[in-house]
Amino acid sequence: MNFVSDIMFRVIRRLISAESGESFSFVPSKRQTFPRMPGMVDFYVHIPYCRNHCRWCPYNTRPYCDDEFPSFFENLLSEVRQVISAGALLYGKSLYIGGGTPTCTGRFLLDFIDCLVKDFGSPSTIAVETSVDELTLDMISGLKASGVAQLSIGVQSFNGKRLQSLGRVVHQTKATDILKSVAHAEFENVNVDLMHDVQRHSLADLGEDIHCAADNGADQITIYPLFRFFTSRGVCMPQIIRRRRFYSFLWNIMQSNGYVPVSVWSFCRPDAIRKFSSVQRRLFVGLGPGAATSLEGLFAFNTFDCKAWMQRISSRLPAYSLEMPISANMRALYDLYWDMYELHLPKVVSEKLIRNRLLNFIAQGAQFLGLCDDDETLTQRGAFWIHLMQNQYVLNYINKVWSASMRTPFPNMIRL
Ligand SMILES: C[S@@+](CC[C@H](N)C(=O)[O-])C[C@H]1O[C@@H](n2cnc3c(N)ncnc32)[C@H](O)[C@@H]1O
Ligand code: SF4
Repeated sequence: MNFVSDIMFRVIRRLISAESGESFSFVPSKRQTFPRMPGMVDFYVHIPYCRNHCRWCPYNTRPYCDDEFPSFFENLLSEVRQVISAGALLYGKSLYIGGGTPTCTGRFLLDFIDCLVKDFGSPSTIAVETSVDELTLDMISGLKASGVAQLSIGVQSFNGKRLQSLGRVVHQTKATDILKSVAHAEFENVNVDLMHDVQRHSLADLGEDIHCAADNGADQITIYPLFRFFTSRGVCMPQIIRRRRFYSFLWNIMQSNGYVPVSVWSFCRPDAIRKFSSVQRRLFVGLGPGAATSLEGLFAFNTFDCKAWMQRISSRLPAYSLEMPISANMRALYDLYWDMYELHLPKVVSEKLIRNRLLNFIAQGAQFLGLCDDDETLTQRGAFWIHLMQNQYVLNYINKVWSASMRTPFPNMIRL
């Protein structure tokens, strides 16, 4: 973010949140015991390993190293046991396994899921992230046998040249063949991630990739504009006019292929059983290096450093490196943010929001301007503005928290 947009962002944030900059700061965690967990709660598990590193990837990843897998998964199970002892219950809630590319750990991943289900009961759904080259036929049947219901496959593009220009390794396996095999296995929801570089790829390129995903059985398609994270020139936001063109093309083509928007980035077939996302859960316990935990009064990050994470867990200490206390107002803001991410703008916002009158006024203004329907659903124009806001917010957040956490296992205070 440049200096002017940073100031604007802070002023607007202050105005609509009534919170000072301090409230949006992460402080180093001094916790020696886990906070009391709220009983049944969603779980997020982070498995950082990837065989290749993609140029613009901001996630906490680690080069593939099968020698590390036994101790990594042993620590992961210990961390699960520790949060369960602190009161968390997985039974009946969702288990989301993201990364990294979890399936590259092969049998270790499947044994981990089997062990969780056996020891702590069946979650309501199990979702796993993967990529084209880490999804063999054996892995597909292994995931099915372990009760995985939702799969998200990072395809990014079906075209080799576009993959290269996105900084991705060209698929060794044919993405369409993998998608067909996955469709045959009848998961409840198969999401395909695509990336689009607004500056380099044409809308026709995007249309081609969307058709390929739709024709080969994707229940859900998520399209991310390529974000250029951690660049020395700061966050790179493409020109607004190009971005607007991209977004309306996206809505029109997805709807003409029979998909409905379910979030600012994702479109789902109306008959798909569930929608797939790691970020739409409001309260969750995070496990593994770099995983976030979101509880009623607390938002925390585990240390991103795998060695430091293992040391903490084997000493039976929480692996949190950063924490942000969450007041009732902040929690209501967080919920409103994710409501809008899921294209819902309530006419009357929560009374827990300090600025609820101002926000109700803004919500009514949005209706008046046609950004939102009568049934409180954002229209294409409304979703476009939320998608830009989300883009700005996420880039700022990731650039600050991720880059500090990747430099050192236990960073100092970070102001968002
Ligand atoms: C953690 S990856 C999950 C799957 C797998 N590791 C892969 O990359 O195929 C989640 C998704 O983030 C998206 N992503 C990664 N880096 C991105 C970037 N710089 N801009 C936009 N989307 C990005 C990709 O679409 C990717 O599928
Ligand atoms: S985009 Fe996926 S495969 Fe590439 S480095 Fe990131 S997590 Fe790994």
